[in-house]
Amino acid sequence: MKHIFNKGKDATRPTLLLLHGTGGNELDLLPLAGRIDDEANVLSVRGNVLENGMPRFFRRLAEGVFDEEDLIFRTKELNDFLNEAAQKYGFDRDNIIAIGYSNGANIAASLLFHYQNALKGAILHHPMVPRRGVELPDLTDKSVFIAAGTNDPICSPAESTELQSLLEKANANVELHWENRGHQLTLDEVEAAAAWYKRINS
Ligand code: MLT
Repeated sequence: MKHIFNKGKDATRPTLLLLHGTGGNELDLLPLAGRIDDEANVLSVRGNVLENGMPRFFRRLAEGVFDEEDLIFRTKELNDFLNEAAQKYGFDRDNIIAIGYSNGANIAASLLFHYQNALKGAILHHPMVPRRGVELPDLTDKSVFIAAGTNDPICSPAESTELQSLLEKANANVELHWENRGHQLTLDEVEAAAAWYKRINS
């Protein structure tokens, strides 16, 4: 997959996996990584699917309606890519924290739904429930931060709470942070994510 890898100063820190929103690319979230942990490795990936020229991490049939078969295929493709990247760049495969926005948060949530050890944790900005009616792996010791908007027209408050409860039922530690805003990624939620990251890594 097309990506950027920036080696961090401190090899004991997690590797931050950056996953952009629809129409974005691997450059978009680089400033976030610096705010979360400026000494960590950064692996920023571009989605392999194009929708009218806009990169995404999996196909959708309509706004908010996912192509499940492609979601499953692309989730495996990303998980395999993480295995290869860990080998190639020599980072700890078991210590990856994803930071995703919108479509990127959805594929990160899908990694958690499908693979027990894909991620150690995730910061999900405005995620949806990636799939329903499936049994999640045991996510004991995985930590997830969800940033949601009370007026988000794409990810409703009910869906954000549903995602929290599905992850908690699978034993993940989940913190749900609310902004009185819509789907946009706000500086306040990034700062809340940075505070959460410090708590879980101290
Ligand atoms: C998706 O398709 O993943 C969600 O609708 C969010 C987005 O617009 O990318």
